[in-house]
Amino acid sequence: MKIKVLLCFIALLFFLSCKQDKDVRYTIGISQCSDDLWRETMNNEMQREIGFHKDANIIIRSVKDDTQKQIEDIEWLIEQSVNLLIISPNESKALMPVIQKAYKSGIPVILVDRRIDTEDYTAYVGADNYQIGKEVGLYAAGILNGRGNVVEMRGWNGSTSDAERHAGFVDGLKNYPEIQIIAEARGNFLKEEAKLQMSYILREYEHIDLVFAMNDPMAAGVYEASRKYTGKTPFIIGVDALSGEGGGIQNIQNNVQDASFIYPTGGDKVIDLAMKILKNQPFDRENTLYTTVVDKSNVRVLQLQTEQIAEQQLKIDSINSSLNDSLVRYTNQKTLFYISIIAIVLISFFLLVSFKAYRAKSKANRLLAHQNEEIKRQAEELREQKEQLLAISKQLEEATHAKLVFFTNISHEFKTPLSLILGPVESLLTDGYLTKEQHELLTLVKKNSNRLLYLISEIIEFRSYENGKMNMHFSEGNLKEFIEDVNPLFSEWIKRKRVNFSFSTDGTSFDMVFDKEKVEKIYFNLISNALKFVNISGEVKVKLKKKNLERGDFAELSVFNSGSYIPPEILKNVFDRFYKVDQGSEGTGIGLSLTAALVEAHKGKIDVWSDENTGTAFCVLLPLVSDNPVMSDSYVSGYTESRLESETDEIGTELQLTASENEDKPVVLVVEDNYDMCKFIQHILNKEYTIITADNGVDGLSKAKKFIPDIIISDVMMPGKDGFELCSLLKENVSTNHIPIILLTACSLDEQKLIGFESGADAYIPKPFNAHLLKIRVRKLIENRQKIKEAFGNSLINDTKKESLGEMEQNFINDFQAYVEEYISNPELNVDELADHLKLSRSQLYRKIKSLTNYSPNELIRIVRLKYAKRLLNSKVKSISEVAYEAGFSSPSYFAKCFKDIYGESPTEYLEQM
Ligand code: FRU
Repeated sequence: MKIKVLLCFIALLFFLSCKQDKDVRYTIGISQCSDDLWRETMNNEMQREIGFHKDANIIIRSVKDDTQKQIEDIEWLIEQSVNLLIISPNESKALMPVIQKAYKSGIPVILVDRRIDTEDYTAYVGADNYQIGKEVGLYAAGILNGRGNVVEMRGWNGSTSDAERHAGFVDGLKNYPEIQIIAEARGNFLKEEAKLQMSYILREYEHIDLVFAMNDPMAAGVYEASRKYTGKTPFIIGVDALSGEGGGIQNIQNNVQDASFIYPTGGDKVIDLAMKILKNQPFDRENTLYTTVVDKSNVRVLQLQTEQIAEQQLKIDSINSSLNDSLVRYTNQKTLFYISIIAIVLISFFLLVSFKAYRAKSKANRLLAHQNEEIKRQAEELREQKEQLLAISKQLEEATHAKLVFFTNISHEFKTPLSLILGPVESLLTDGYLTKEQHELLTLVKKNSNRLLYLISEIIEFRSYENGKMNMHFSEGNLKEFIEDVNPLFSEWIKRKRVNFSFSTDGTSFDMVFDKEKVEKIYFNLISNALKFVNISGEVKVKLKKKNLERGDFAELSVFNSGSYIPPEILKNVFDRFYKVDQGSEGTGIGLSLTAALVEAHKGKIDVWSDENTGTAFCVLLPLVSDNPVMSDSYVSGYTESRLESETDEIGTELQLTASENEDKPVVLVVEDNYDMCKFIQHILNKEYTIITADNGVDGLSKAKKFIPDIIISDVMMPGKDGFELCSLLKENVSTNHIPIILLTACSLDEQKLIGFESGADAYIPKPFNAHLLKIRVRKLIENRQKIKEAFGNSLINDTKKESLGEMEQNFINDFQAYVEEYISNPELNVDELADHLKLSRSQLYRKIKSLTNYSPNELIRIVRLKYAKRLLNSKVKSISEVAYEAGFSSPSYFAKCFKDIYGESPTEYLEQM
């Protein structure tokens, strides 16, 4: 906005400073037919006069008596779009068309000195040439006293001044018959031509008394010819009578000629008239300038006058020029003034802008300085933090390194005691005197010692890779055949999992160099991983094919398993050290990173894909052509067999219990994904208890519901549903909420214990546990339960307070009782309907009622009937047999027997007692 105002202001000043140029509104074109003293005088007068009109200027074009060139000049002036034309036409006839054209196109035309034979002009300024000619004739007659020979030196043929002067001259002499015009010649208004023509005449005529030269230059030419050829001069009369060098006045004084008639130039009048026309002021069309004779009698006075005039003129010129100078100075000063104002405004503006910018900059600088300070401070803080972090990370690194070193060392240390466990165990196992149970337990020890050994070896191997000390043993072999040899070893596992296993290749030979031991480990890890995570009856597909990459040819080994999905956020970490895909599953989390390390040691590549709908695939690329040094083949297979022995979790023969069988032994459900652990717990408890096992939370839940065990022992970390979730679900379920649960886990942190108890666990035993302690906890929990149900059973019979049961269990019994009482008189009251009503199966109902009350559902129904009957007996309204039927007993005798069994006396004795 400010800039716009400023620009407008500057534009206004600029307009004002330029204004004087725009004052020139009129341009006047002047076309002179000749170039001589007379024209020069006239032009000077016009120049001087136009100086008084600041709104007009003049353009003068002159020719040297050349009609054609004058026509061109006039055309040119028309083209310049002059506002008015002042023309002194050389000839009348030839110039008429161009003058008419100008006039008719709207340009005002002023004719000066000479005329044209048409009325197509705006105004005329000049003397009356006829009158001049006549006055010359009369003057000559006077000089000659009416007698003598006269010569006429005429002007330009075709010009009106020549024609009119001649006519006037002839008329002036017509009353003097003794005056003879003896000769007539064309000097064309030019001195030299007149001189030449006069020389001819002088040759012809001896006696010449007077010569009328139509202008003063021709008079001088006549004079010079006469002097030259006759030595004497006739009386010479000229026209113009101009002052100054070569002018008629000087000629008369110098005796060059005798008289001259003033032919006024009238330049000032012409301009005056032109301005009137241009400004639409009234003007006269015909402006006649007057003449008079100048001769010896008045030349002196006239010269003085003309000198005075000239002097005045000079003064006027000097005033004019100083005025012009002043004007120019004024204009310059005005321009300077405006420029100064513009400059001042601009400077002020820029000063203001600069000041504002300076202030803004200072402010910004202050802000920046402040920010800089702040940044510096923050940078300092960051630097300190970085240093601290670096120190911490260094410490951490050192600590981690120390831990890992310790870990590796201790792993090495473990090897010896483990070997010392394995050795004796193996020799004990060969002992034929072992009982079956002892043999099984020792096998368990052997298997797990082996497993520990492998885990330790894995850690050591991985550490050696990390330290760049992995020993590679490359040898020639055929990868396809190698895999084909290993595959049958997995057949047992594959069968157990009911997995559809396939191995396919693309027909390439796969003769290559690789470390067989390492590749066996890679392959074992991939296959065992796939078999662990494949769904039951799913598929594991192994493919081996050739792959051409920019880096060269590779053997692409892919292992796909259906039924598992690894989300992308986990997928990116699967090869990280200690990262476990399923936190619930067992293992070190080193398997896949070790696999990746082994692949890398082959200069290969490992990748993984997982799709929610299909499954997961691991893909290993091993170079087909290797530059690794080939060593002798010292590889002895056996890794897979021994690993399989320690890895796989054979599913034992499941205890298929039914509610009616084995009623004497309490039932324990063991939910544990580690087969050996499960087996070990079985060993601890199977003498006193019937054991049911489940290897995951989902299975555990369904078996708990199915068998309603007396106690559940569950692991916490399991794939799928963990122990906490299982516990919560069991405690929310009507059929299982009364069952005591022991959580058995390696996680011994307090928070985890808290979660365990919150999810309803009755006990929490950390691993490794003492077998004896486990036995005691199981026995105590079952005994407790037993006591509760006995107390509850009694309270049911005796109608005492039933505080021993939990709220959910109490509600369950109340529901049972309410349903029985509703249909109490029906002796056929159906346990199935009752189970339906309580949303349980018949066997669930049986085990639930049994474990809550120690009675079977039928016994509990009978107790409810008896209690009802007792209330009826108490009211003494009905007979014993009526009571028996109303309480749903099939006969009074059966009622009496049942009553006595429970209350120790018959209904009759009871009534008598009352
Ligand atoms: C100037 C002139 C004058 C003369 C006039 C006639 O060019 O020759 O001397 O009086 O023209 O038109």
